Amino acid sequence: MSKFFALIPAAGSGSRMANELPKQYLLLNNKPMIYHAIDTLYRNRFIIRVFVILAPYDNEWHKHDWSAFSEKLTVLNCGGITRAESVLNALTTAKQKNLVGADDWILVHDAARPCLTSVQLDKLINELTGDEIGGLLAVPVADTLKRSNSEDRVAHTESRENLWQAQTPQMFRYDLLTKALHNSVHINVTDDASAVEALGLQPKLVVSDAYNFKVTYPQDLALAELIIQKRNNP
Ligand code: C5P
Repeated sequence: MSKFFALIPAAGSGSRMANELPKQYLLLNNKPMIYHAIDTLYRNRFIIRVFVILAPYDNEWHKHDWSAFSEKLTVLNCGGITRAESVLNALTTAKQKNLVGADDWILVHDAARPCLTSVQLDKLINELTGDEIGGLLAVPVADTLKRSNSEDRVAHTESRENLWQAQTPQMFRYDLLTKALHNSVHINVTDDASAVEALGLQPKLVVSDAYNFKVTYPQDLALAELIIQKRNNP
């Protein structure tokens, strides 16, 4: 029987956040941002271990209290230059330590998506457990999309038909994900699904909602905090 593992790449510097502190450590509701993602994944009954991938030079993690997660949290200091490299390094390390098997499901989730809910997570697992390939949470694009020229003027309007915004978690079996990421080391993939697509496969899109957005710019922090506060005090 395949087991379920969560893997949170948190080795990025968050340059678009304009803050010296890597964004996964910025405080949301008095906890580092990554705490909220760990919490949701940790409480899921299917997930038996949560891996967090840190940069080798990370000097923030140890300043916080993670004891609430001690039963199934493993920290790997093997982050790479890109997100894909960080994930691949962690997969290799986990296999070397005999912690994961070839058919196990890996749910890769960005540290910068603190508003993931247990409902979204359960839905992803339920819809994909019997799937040949795997897939990801995503939302159909709602806005009209403009393609710009080099002067920030509209070159043309893109059709939004069949367009989705990819989110995380993205859920693939260990062997497929490892093969896909190895195969795409020289392509610039920004998520796991793109690496799988580069093998000619079609990951399944599981409908999510806008609450699971990625905190990227300074103004996103206040919105994430509001969502988390509302959830904690309904
Ligand atoms: O930069 P971006 O927001 O796309 O990063 C998505 C996730 O990948 C973040 O959680 C970030 O910490 C992680 N990441 C990583 N290693 C890198 C770059 C990004 O683990 N080299």
